[in-house]
Amino acid sequence: MATLLVGYTAQDLFERGKHGRRFTAKWALEGEITCHTLDIYQRHAIEKAHHLKAVCSAHLPAGNWDEIRFKTGPKRMSGELALDMLQEIAALLGGDLSAPRFRLEYEGKERDRNSLIAKIRDQPGRTRDFSARWQASVPGLEPVEFTSFPGCFCHRRRDEGGLALAEVVCRELAQLSVDGFDLLDMGCGSGMVGLLIARALKDVRLTGVDSHSRAIEAATLNADRLGVPAELILADSGTPSRLDGTFDVFVGNPPYYSDYRIADVFLETARRALKVGGRCYTVCKNAAGLESVHRRYFDTVETIARRGYSVLKSMKV
Ligand SMILES: C[S@@+](CC[C@H](N)C(=O)[O-])C[C@H]1O[C@@H](n2cnc3c(N)ncnc32)[C@H](O)[C@@H]1O
Repeated sequence: MATLLVGYTAQDLFERGKHGRRFTAKWALEGEITCHTLDIYQRHAIEKAHHLKAVCSAHLPAGNWDEIRFKTGPKRMSGELALDMLQEIAALLGGDLSAPRFRLEYEGKERDRNSLIAKIRDQPGRTRDFSARWQASVPGLEPVEFTSFPGCFCHRRRDEGGLALAEVVCRELAQLSVDGFDLLDMGCGSGMVGLLIARALKDVRLTGVDSHSRAIEAATLNADRLGVPAELILADSGTPSRLDGTFDVFVGNPPYYSDYRIADVFLETARRALKVGGRCYTVCKNAAGLESVHRRYFDTVETIARRGYSVLKSMKV
């Protein structure tokens, strides 16, 4: 019996126990279980907590699955991502979305659950393309086109915070008239920030890191289309140690949920990955919270206002 779990987090697989132990197994997990995750952080969390086989990839793994279980709902993922995943599940099951081969655990209204399934069942031969193309530019250059996929941060549009970051960094580095530098874009998403900078300045060697497999898929596609050579790494704990002390510039537009815990991973990476004399730039809506994270890793921090955002700048001395 080979089961594929889609959309589950490490916490979903367990529930609180009544007697003493904090968690008990929610299901008797029998046979060969594979958990699919889109984010490598979730893959690591599942492997660590449950010792289950977990696969992190932008698309569902091919296989002879006896059963696929899909957990979704409006608080968990966008409707577009749910449809996209369901479309992939239907393809893996030869279009058969009936029990026992397919089980949907839907967190939300019954009406929405039925409508989600109907969208796939009612048009069995149709494969919808949920990718989107949108444009972004920095002052003085023609707009360029980017592609994103459901699951990517800011799918279908550019993020104004990321754009503010790219604009400030382009302006500052142009003033230095440096030719050739190593740039690390952490949490690169579909690659917009690093790619705009690489296009605007000469001889930029770009490395991008993101924990989301679809972000890396989109960034790879966008770098190829723009003709920018880039190393793109799927990771949730920054760059590998072989890259320590090798970057001139770090840029990051970190997510701010979980009390700046992820922003801390970004700044720790910046400190480690930059050369002495290297520059670290991050962006956020409100500087106060992020500023204290900068101070944990750098002696000074400067705030530059742009587009209603704060770009924070530190130097590694
Ligand atoms: C606010 S988005 C910024 C995306 C892009 N840089 C932009 O400005 O449009 C933050 C990105 O960080 C990624 N991320 C979250 N946690 C991460 C981690 N621990 N390591 C690397 N990337 C992470 C998310 O997947 C997301 O793509």
